[in-house]
Amino acid sequence: MRKHIKGNVSWVGYLDWDLQKFHGDDFTIHHGSSQNAYLIEEEKTILVDTVWAPHQFEYIENLKSEIDLNKVDAIIVQHGECDHSGTLPALMKERPDLPIYCTANAVKSLEGQWGKHGWDFHVIHTGDELDIGNGKKLIFVEMPMLHWPDSMATFLTGDNILFSMDAFGQHYAVGELYADLADQDTLWNEAERYYANIVSPFAPMVTKKVKEITALNLPIEIIAPSHGAIWRKDPLQIVKAYAKWAEDPREDRITVVYGTMWHGTEKLAHAIADQLSLKAPHTIVKVYNVDHTPKDDIAYEVFRSKAVAIGSPTILNGVLDSVAAFTYYLKSLKLMKGRKAAVFGCYGWSGEGNKVLREMMANAGFDVVDTEIKCSWNPENADLEQAAGIADALLSGESASADAPVESSGKWKCPCGYIYDPAKGDPDHGVPAGTPWEKVPDDWTCPVCHLPKNAFTKLD
Ligand code: FEO
Repeated sequence: MRKHIKGNVSWVGYLDWDLQKFHGDDFTIHHGSSQNAYLIEEEKTILVDTVWAPHQFEYIENLKSEIDLNKVDAIIVQHGECDHSGTLPALMKERPDLPIYCTANAVKSLEGQWGKHGWDFHVIHTGDELDIGNGKKLIFVEMPMLHWPDSMATFLTGDNILFSMDAFGQHYAVGELYADLADQDTLWNEAERYYANIVSPFAPMVTKKVKEITALNLPIEIIAPSHGAIWRKDPLQIVKAYAKWAEDPREDRITVVYGTMWHGTEKLAHAIADQLSLKAPHTIVKVYNVDHTPKDDIAYEVFRSKAVAIGSPTILNGVLDSVAAFTYYLKSLKLMKGRKAAVFGCYGWSGEGNKVLREMMANAGFDVVDTEIKCSWNPENADLEQAAGIADALLSGESASADAPVESSGKWKCPCGYIYDPAKGDPDHGVPAGTPWEKVPDDWTCPVCHLPKNAFTKLD
């Protein structure tokens, strides 16, 4: 069944009510999701994306019930990830001659996943247009690293619909289809949770693209992403939200995160939360055990917090692997700068946990305050009273030593082949020789292809 959107544009995607996990088991889904695909029927009949392979039968049969597949003139594949291209092989079996419009990087990702079949690829670049008749055309915009190198968006003139791909989406099954009809609390929580976990590593690119799209002065009336609700009422509200989240998502919140073995570190976590609430009644304080709450939910809370307290008991001269994994995840999100962190934990005999955790959080980009709680065996009143010091440090101006050394992580490589060498820097673009990768500004881009810093990978 198609769902009419506007003019001759229909939604022909898959509403995934039962989805529990995404990216394998890596990302937790709470309210279902959708793989949005679209059908445009002007003088030319155009498909925009497909759905995940498990739903290919529904997608193909639904299309066949609506149109004659032999009359489709082209498909726009905006992104190669299999939740959107998974049904492409089945579709191409039906129509091996179907022209595919996509980016050069999408040719690589599609052939890399589905094999080389001699498909009729038409590589697009930003500003390219496709005339689809009836006075309407599609204008393409490359969106590299939002969130894959192959990503792009498509603007339909006349109806003024921006098909934005993953950007501006949510993992949220919205039967009502439109954002203005959806439950607003769930919608905005899922939109921001999606941004925090999936888009935030590419925040510099978001800022750049939002400016670029705004500068195009496209009369956007509808933003139709590839997941979740379609934005038709004040559609630029989600673009503005992205700009804000990319600039600074911090609210008056502090998150306390911990792992625990025999509840000692848990008692410290609760004591810290109590002191925070006592000293700052208007600050929202939340407490999470990393083993009981999905990492993406806690990361979302940290994303919008101004500070975090994180604790682990010492085990095997380090910290619990669940706590270590969580700090690793925070580091991968690359947007934790400007947030304070404090560490705490219990120990029996050696007590290295706090030092290890302090290094992990600093390495993840946090400003780790000197105040900590290092508690021998179970907390006694004297230990719990130190929670006030942590609260004061997180609520006040205390920060880590400004001259804390930055660990250099060596050379980094852009997908285009350019290699950033700290010894050389990039003086032509304001990065002096000798600048370690970690000190290169977040808005610096590759001097060759202009991909953002987040697109680079570390050279071993
Ligand atoms: Fe929804 Fe990047 O795929």
